[in-house]
Amino acid sequence: MIEDAIKAFKDGKIVLIFDNDNRERETDMIIAAEHMTTEHMTTIRNEAGGLVCVPLSAEVSDKLGIPFMTDIMDAATEKYPVLGELSPNDIPYDEKSAFSITVNHRKTFTGITDSDRACTIKELALLCKNEEYDSFGKNFRAPGHVTLLRATEGHVLKRQGHTEMSIALAEMAGTTPVAVCCEMMDDETGGSMTTDKVAKYAEEKELIFLSGDEVIKAYHEFKENQ
Ligand code: 5RP
Ligand code: CA
Ligand code: ZN
Repeated sequence: MIEDAIKAFKDGKIVLIFDNDNRERETDMIIAAEHMTTEHMTTIRNEAGGLVCVPLSAEVSDKLGIPFMTDIMDAATEKYPVLGELSPNDIPYDEKSAFSITVNHRKTFTGITDSDRACTIKELALLCKNEEYDSFGKNFRAPGHVTLLRATEGHVLKRQGHTEMSIALAEMAGTTPVAVCCEMMDDETGGSMTTDKVAKYAEEKELIFLSGDEVIKAYHEFKENQ
């Protein structure tokens, strides 16, 4: 099953991952960012419906020079004290938020259309793939309409969010460690889609659906065999 997920991810297909009953209890649609298309973006917006984010490995984030949003808030608190008051120190399901900055590619118009967001995501993946980190500021503007997420160093070995699971999949697939993730919401209830409904959706669309535990276990084995 994990092998199928790795292959699907490598082939640019959507993979569905439920994190854990002891965490968000959410399933994200996850894709390798280098394969992002406008069609993918339309599917994610209509059929997942959560916040479209781009997880990046800690190494790539350092090369781009992007901090956690909380680091930016800490640095600006002296001038804007409310940023200190807003500290996300009470997230009910994890110790730390993965949020970094938001960006748009400079080629985009508003940045929110499916083609604009797909452009921002794919161009960022290609920039990282080609190691053109110095051109980040020249080609992208912030704030924008695509939220970047910084994976924790060591990813799933240290934090078990969708951010880190996306990067673990990328590492096992040997692809650029830049992904797309978006929570699957339920149109009937307005809540997160239950795993029963996700399983049905996965069957209908012939998509791989797996648990965070499967990804984490596979990554441990992958590291042991290296
Ligand atoms: C951004 C989020 C999502 O939950 C996303 O899955 C990334 O967060 P995490 O790594 O905490 O799971 O909050 O929309
Ligand atoms: Ca979340
Ligand atoms: Zn999540």
